[in-house]
Amino acid sequence: MDFSGKIAFITGAANGAGLGQAHVFGRAGCRLFLVDIRADALATAIEQLRAEGIEAEGCALDLTDRVAYARVADRVEEVYGEPPHLLFNTAGVFAIGPTEMSRYEDFDWVLGVNLGGVVNGMVTLVPRMIDAGRPGHIVTTASVGGFYGADAVAIYSASKAAVINLMEGYRKALAKYRIGVSVLCPMNINSNIGLSSQVRPAQLRASGYVVDDATTASLQGIFAHGMDPLELAGHVKAGIERNDLYIIPYPEAAVPVRQHVEDILAAIPATSTDPDGVASRTAALENWARDRDEIARRRSDQAPGRVVRQRQEEAAR
Ligand code: NAI
Repeated sequence: MDFSGKIAFITGAANGAGLGQAHVFGRAGCRLFLVDIRADALATAIEQLRAEGIEAEGCALDLTDRVAYARVADRVEEVYGEPPHLLFNTAGVFAIGPTEMSRYEDFDWVLGVNLGGVVNGMVTLVPRMIDAGRPGHIVTTASVGGFYGADAVAIYSASKAAVINLMEGYRKALAKYRIGVSVLCPMNINSNIGLSSQVRPAQLRASGYVVDDATTASLQGIFAHGMDPLELAGHVKAGIERNDLYIIPYPEAAVPVRQHVEDILAAIPATSTDPDGVASRTAALENWARDRDEIARRRSDQAPGRVVRQRQEEAAR
């Protein structure tokens, strides 16, 4: 992909991985539209990028606010005259604590931003990208932690597992529109993620976890050794150029991921234990896939972009 002149929409762009992406894709010639819940840090980031000669616009956005997200999507089109070619669902929050102490507020915040924010990005922007009829690419940041559960970060890992799975599905769905989909799974980034509780909304403040200075300091100690966001964004750029589904530039991820996949495979019996069942269930799925394709062909007048646009226009009337 030639990035020059492409519009890149980046969430979580005020800090860390998102800011690294803004620099790398801005230097590659993209026109940027940046959003983040931290308005001041975002304004500083935009200033820095512009000082480098990068075309950068943006505004504060809480990704969990669907109405505001749609307004920002309109704003992108006002500013640049068309929807983004590149969507980076990068923003995320992190919470750590004994899983068994989790409260609804812990779930609502972490799933709301890490999964809900990505859902809102996809539902708001994908139809616009399809309607624009140009090739594009979407990179959503999950985590290596999304490949396996972990006791102290179960909600975070679950949010990332959902995002990985969702991107696997969207990649299949969007290939026909020439929109590639990748999922970035970092292991450790030198970022502000350890300070996530600063952007936790007041109504979801009640937590089952203790977030004190000692916890924050110990997290900062881990993330201080994380990959530099610019280096990570360089891997993302290479991943888009290769149209990789998974972007996992961390060699140390191999051991836990392999162990997890082996544990899953070990739970699956050999075909020889139930050959007839395998044959009939497989045939049923293949038939269903053929029927589904036929139905989709008949409904080709309902291209998803157009249908969603119609819905939005109806809602506005
Ligand atoms: P970061 O905290 O430096 O950057 C995340 C940005 O998201 C922040 O600027 C924050 O203000 C923004 N944000 C948080 N809630 C938001 C909301 N509701 N609406 C809009 N923006 C919001 O952290 P980092 O590390 O750069 O995080 C980027 C992504 O990388 C996240 O999805 C995170 O889960 C993921 N990740 C991070 C790892 C790490 O070691 N730091 C490891 C694996 C994945």
